[in-house]
Amino acid sequence: MVQLKNPDLIRSTPFVNGEWITSKSTKTFKVFDPATEELIIELPDQTREEIEYAIETCHIAYEKFKHTSPYERAKWLRNLYNLIIENVDDLAKIITWENGKCLTDAIGEIKYAASYFEWFAEEAKRIYGHTIQPQNQNNKVITYKQPIGVVGLLCPFNFPSAMGARKLAPAFAAGCTTILKPDFQTPLSSLALAYLAHEAGFPPGTFNVVLVSQASTPEMGLLFCESKIIKKISFTGSTPVGKLLMKQSSSTLKKLSMELGGNAPVIIFDDAKLDWAVEQAIASKFRSLGQTCVCANRIYVQAGVYEKFNQKFIEKVKHFKIGNGFEPGVTHACLINDRAILKVEDHFKDAVSKGAKVLIAGGKLPALGKNFYAPSVICDVTNDMKVVNEETFGPLGAIIKFETKEQVLHWCNDTPFGLASYVFSENLNNIWYMSEYLESGMVAVNTGIFTDAAMPFGGVKESGFGREGSMYGIDDYTVVKSITLGNIYHHA
Ligand code: SIN
Repeated sequence: MVQLKNPDLIRSTPFVNGEWITSKSTKTFKVFDPATEELIIELPDQTREEIEYAIETCHIAYEKFKHTSPYERAKWLRNLYNLIIENVDDLAKIITWENGKCLTDAIGEIKYAASYFEWFAEEAKRIYGHTIQPQNQNNKVITYKQPIGVVGLLCPFNFPSAMGARKLAPAFAAGCTTILKPDFQTPLSSLALAYLAHEAGFPPGTFNVVLVSQASTPEMGLLFCESKIIKKISFTGSTPVGKLLMKQSSSTLKKLSMELGGNAPVIIFDDAKLDWAVEQAIASKFRSLGQTCVCANRIYVQAGVYEKFNQKFIEKVKHFKIGNGFEPGVTHACLINDRAILKVEDHFKDAVSKGAKVLIAGGKLPALGKNFYAPSVICDVTNDMKVVNEETFGPLGAIIKFETKEQVLHWCNDTPFGLASYVFSENLNNIWYMSEYLESGMVAVNTGIFTDAAMPFGGVKESGFGREGSMYGIDDYTVVKSITLGNIYHHA
């Protein structure tokens, strides 16, 4: 059992209408520590009726919440930011416990999550409309943005706190009420966030957390999609699930935000600052052991620095310290489950069978536990390999040689995905050419870590649509109302 300064942050029941409710469900699901494989907690797998009730109370809360002042909502958001920062150590421990990532990364995630509440506390007051002159001189058009209504938030395991925060903060700022379903593997962080939101002053029913097992997730996803009350769903997860949710939402024509899979290329030109590029490519590739949607999946290195880059890259990877995320000095911890390892192994074996050269074999670390894997690095990767065409979502560094910027651009864009790309160069022409023509929602130049509450996060192509964070993030939770004032110069 992890020791917390504030043990109240650990909750074991759903949070609905401002209360920790006792579920009547006869079914439960178990949450395990992925590092030790020990049971953390057993939670109720809520019934359909309970989820429907949560949606209804969320709607009742909305009818009041939509009339609250943005200044009041800003105050609650700011309170929540302060409370998260006050509880940073406990919240980080909860993440490490249920997700496995290193405590230092978990602390970083909590600060990142808090920053969305801080950012949107300020944006709540800045939801602007326009005044527009239509053709008829006697009329004026005024637009303003209204909250969309009740929103359903479907959150992933990889950032158990920050992905919820990135959706909740703009929703609250806009005046929406929320019903959040955490991933079955990492529900404790969302429950802790709900506890703090309640302390921060958010009215009952504005932030509901429902608990659903893996087996019940498809049914509850369908319920969210077909609900006439839920007006918008924001989903972070895989492209196939995103497509399914979109299909299921067609009957209610729901507004959707989709943050889906990526296949991020990192492009390193001959003229890049090589040591920096190596360090940043590693930071991107092995952040959360490759389990982020923006992690480098394909590392393209120009021929002139290819051998040198590979050498420097593996020197650094060899110094990773793998272990339990709670242990001091551990740089990389475990993966979420053994299915994640199977995918890494599959991509590794496929690449090697097609001619990739092994620079570091890596592999399972059974002495540490079934979810531990030492990173693998391969080079001479080619376009026919799975690792080039599918998101690995794990610790496999795949390095590919390229000759010209036209060639590498073609390879980078030859994928259905388009989330993040990375360019390393000291030449403005290379930087601009790639930034302009890369088919991805986000391009990071000369850095491997770029996400921030101030930056619009989101993809193109099959990586999804909608933007989270930044001044654009709030748009996904609002609808534009236009009011035409007629006959305004008529005084008689
Ligand atoms: C993600 O994996 O989708 C989020 C990564 C980030 O926000 O940095």
